[in-house]
Amino acid sequence: MRLDKYLTECGIGSRKEVKKIIDSGAVSVNEKTVSSPKENVNEEKDIVKYNEKIIKYKKFRYYILNKISGYITAVDDPREKTVMDILPDWVIKKDLAPVGRLDKDTEGLLLLTNDGQLNHRLLSPKSHVDKTYYAELEKDISEDDLEKLRKGVDIGGYITMPAEAKKIEEKKIHLTIKEGKFHQVKKMLEAVNNKVVYLKRISFGKLELKEMELGEVKEVEIGDIE
Ligand code: URA
Repeated sequence: MRLDKYLTECGIGSRKEVKKIIDSGAVSVNEKTVSSPKENVNEEKDIVKYNEKIIKYKKFRYYILNKISGYITAVDDPREKTVMDILPDWVIKKDLAPVGRLDKDTEGLLLLTNDGQLNHRLLSPKSHVDKTYYAELEKDISEDDLEKLRKGVDIGGYITMPAEAKKIEEKKIHLTIKEGKFHQVKKMLEAVNNKVVYLKRISFGKLELKEMELGEVKEVEIGDIE
């Protein structure tokens, strides 16, 4: 692979920017300063450094974010702040996109990746990835209503798939769903005459939020996801 392509795919900058960086003498391959963007690098064996820092090649990147309320799940938007605005500088944003969507006022676990195929696979209606939410409700919930949530409720003409629903405290539940319809958790609670007043996703498949702080980002590996 050409050196300029390598650095671009590592998120160092655009092709034009990395050409300038290479030209400035800031890049070495196997300890030798390289001045040509056309230099051929073996992404498995060669040691590429930019300003003495090793730049390891990774085609696909996976990050989990503990989303903050007030940001929309989108790559960019002309009016609203997006989840991309929360990401710190060290996150490589090239081709990065969120997997699925959390509402503007929802907090919690959001996976972001530049692996379009994985993104597509996880979102496919056939994939049935478990998503667990912690929800605070306007009213306390009865065992009867929890049972309705488990069996499936009508959310505007669609009957939800079997889910897990557990009361953890008064007005607080954990709900695990296998699908991701628009506003699904909020609509499910509306279907049992209740209302979500606070919503946080605490897990997505094998990924868990655990003790991550609001706004915190962690890089994860594909093995942590699948
Ligand atoms: N269900 C909702 O209602 N909102 C979310 O953000 C996620 C699931």
